[in-house]
Amino acid sequence: MASTEPGTLYRHPDRNLAMELVRATEAAAIRAVPFVGKGDKNGADGAAVDAMRKFLGTVDFDGVVVIGEGEKDHAPMLFNGEHVGTGHGPQCDIAVDPIDGTSLTAAGRPNALSMIAVSDRGSMLDASSVYYMEKIVTGPEGIGVVDLRQSIGDNLRALAAAKKKPIGEMQVAVLDRPRHAQLIEEIREAGAGTRLLLDGDVAGGINAARYETRIDMCVGIGGSPEGVASACAIKALGGLIQGRLAPKTDEERERGEAAGLKFDYVYEADELVRSDNTFFVATGVTDGGLVEGVRRKGPIIRTESIVLRSRSGTIRRVVADHLAEKWL
Ligand code: FBP
Repeated sequence: MASTEPGTLYRHPDRNLAMELVRATEAAAIRAVPFVGKGDKNGADGAAVDAMRKFLGTVDFDGVVVIGEGEKDHAPMLFNGEHVGTGHGPQCDIAVDPIDGTSLTAAGRPNALSMIAVSDRGSMLDASSVYYMEKIVTGPEGIGVVDLRQSIGDNLRALAAAKKKPIGEMQVAVLDRPRHAQLIEEIREAGAGTRLLLDGDVAGGINAARYETRIDMCVGIGGSPEGVASACAIKALGGLIQGRLAPKTDEERERGEAAGLKFDYVYEADELVRSDNTFFVATGVTDGGLVEGVRRKGPIIRTESIVLRSRSGTIRRVVADHLAEKWL
């Protein structure tokens, strides 16, 4: 039985945790804002990491960072294996991305956000030894219909049929990278349109899984950390996510194999996160399709966040006004 006594061990993260975690993404987003458009992505990431770490330290939970961010490009990071939280309360795995979209932030472009995903201890796939993962994300209609092992054309036709939508109206979010040239061509050949993302495939995936957006699918190779974190969100949205590791070198593959990872293998949502108790929180740094960015309104700093919880299947939008003088 879970206890509600302060200082005692909870076994599972509960609903209050999500609302506590959002304070950490809000703080990271607020601290990143002075760096927006200043061309200093490591400065932005460093400020967001420090703020997130500080706030996480005040939250009553016993978190282990399974997925930290930064290793890919030697940016500042919350280290894998680092313990966060007060050490009291639910035992959790945590994936953090203090800024998903550091380059967007540095350039002053839209769609940068700060995010945290949490699940029961021991349930997140530790894919940290392999930086990239091929992913496919859709809403619930894609379950049992879409599969990474099929061609993109077949997936689009199957999803369009399941959504009872002409394929010409299907929109696919893809990171705009040279590695996706052929994928983009195949999407267009199938008759669908692309939404090319400069960065930020976590938001792209969430937008594909939400029913009220124009995006039907998010596909392509992005970060593995982002893949596992996205799985926490997609579970809460009831959507489909699959991932296949995409090592860049033999050495990376060997490292992954030594860590017990499977290659040429499609990880399902339940393997990316082996728990149905997942939380996902994100706060906008710059304006985006998912959440608005931080803005200053006189004495107030306003943040917008989303809070997703798989057990209840809820998406909450949290708009918070913070007294600016407290953030000097
Ligand atoms: P960071 O801002 O954390 O570096 O990540 C941005 C991002 O676009 C992710 O959303 C995506 O998964 C990954 O980078 C893709 O990697 P790359 O930019 O190397 O193609």
